[in-house]
Amino acid sequence: MTSQSIEKQFNIEPGGELHGVIRVPGDKSISHRSIMLGALAEGKTEVTGFLEGEDNLATLNAFRNMGVKIEGPVNGQLTIDGVGMHGLQRPDKPLYLGNSGTSMRLLTGLLAVQAFDCELTGDASLSTRPMRRVTEPLASMGAKVETTAEGTPPLRIKGGQVLHGIEYHMPVASAQVKSCLLLAGLYARGKTCVTEPAPTRDHTERMLQGFGYVVEQDRANKVCLEGGGVLQATRIDVPADISSATFFMVGASIAPGSDITLQHVGMNPTRIGVINILRLMGADLQIENERLVGGEPVADIRVRSAKLKGICIPEAQVPLAIDEFPALFVAAACAEGETVLTGARELRVKESDRIQVMADGLQALGIDAQATEDGMVIQGGRLGSGTVSSHGDHRIAMSFAMAGLRASGTVSITECANVDTSFPGFVSLAKGSGVNISEQTTN
Ligand code: S3P
Repeated sequence: MTSQSIEKQFNIEPGGELHGVIRVPGDKSISHRSIMLGALAEGKTEVTGFLEGEDNLATLNAFRNMGVKIEGPVNGQLTIDGVGMHGLQRPDKPLYLGNSGTSMRLLTGLLAVQAFDCELTGDASLSTRPMRRVTEPLASMGAKVETTAEGTPPLRIKGGQVLHGIEYHMPVASAQVKSCLLLAGLYARGKTCVTEPAPTRDHTERMLQGFGYVVEQDRANKVCLEGGGVLQATRIDVPADISSATFFMVGASIAPGSDITLQHVGMNPTRIGVINILRLMGADLQIENERLVGGEPVADIRVRSAKLKGICIPEAQVPLAIDEFPALFVAAACAEGETVLTGARELRVKESDRIQVMADGLQALGIDAQATEDGMVIQGGRLGSGTVSSHGDHRIAMSFAMAGLRASGTVSITECANVDTSFPGFVSLAKGSGVNISEQTTN
């Protein structure tokens, strides 16, 4: 049964505080890339800390359907028997990628350069997400990928095309677009260069280098690679996902008396916008035990509750915290004064329209939250009780779960099944650390 056919509701009673030392599950972005590059490598890639969420399992199943042997995952451990750059086989059916935009956009780049045709499909949310941002630059490399008339999935990819490298200036700051083009560029004739309007997560670039591929990066947000190389299998230790840690950073910051430590969190500089923003708001975050694990910086984060204040969020931080805004909006609702976010139009095309859905949910709980075209204006205040819909968006569900810590009565959140796409075990970890949360499941 898929998460779509199960209705899950979270109920949170106020007054909890967060304590203990916990490790949230593995990084979603790095887990996807470990399967993709491991599958294309020569030899066996061992992965530990792999996120066994539905999105990553969608990527894993797609590669199994293309003939790649993968052992596991068992307790986050995987062994991928790489088939080499030209060893993928034609899948016998369309590849279903569930809720996962990352799987679809990155795979489009990789499949546009294979010898076979294939089709990519997704759930109701993924089927509304914009794909021309990848199909258009791929077309200019020589790829043949069809979308619906609206530019959405399903995607029909024509194999057997010869692609050539391009110089691409991305109109939106998107790591998914950048990664898609770099994966296609591995097979293209000549050099593929992508320039981004602002830095975005660089896990693809780092991991390609970990697999022995030469990637040129310069300070002007430009990354280039030459097609025609090979990848050598390696070991990957996936750090805990800073995006999942965010719910606990916000929860502990807003729940008086909290003191929690989050272990082994990925601290890649292209992902730490949430730490920068929370600190500007007055959060008490202590970074401990910083170290480098397999090319990615990692640390433990101790979070103690603090009095937060409203701020104007610097636009330069937006791409570095792009998945963290639902939780940051909850922090802003509990802060003193006004918080203003601008330059974040991309939030409208995530798993849900995160600007509208969060503004609606905060308003339902009595907060003055005004959606704008590219952000939100939130007046800090008192969170009341009520029911909010997460619109099937995992990060919205978990953000409102943390809002429940500071509400005046019960907060109920509907459509929570998709939390399993990125954070299996969220309810038990939240409960074990002090959130008064329970879940109700109906079929
Ligand atoms: C991701 C990139 C981001 C992010 C998504 C994961 C990735 O999307 O929102 O959750 O793994 O590359 P965009 O690159 O479209 O902003």
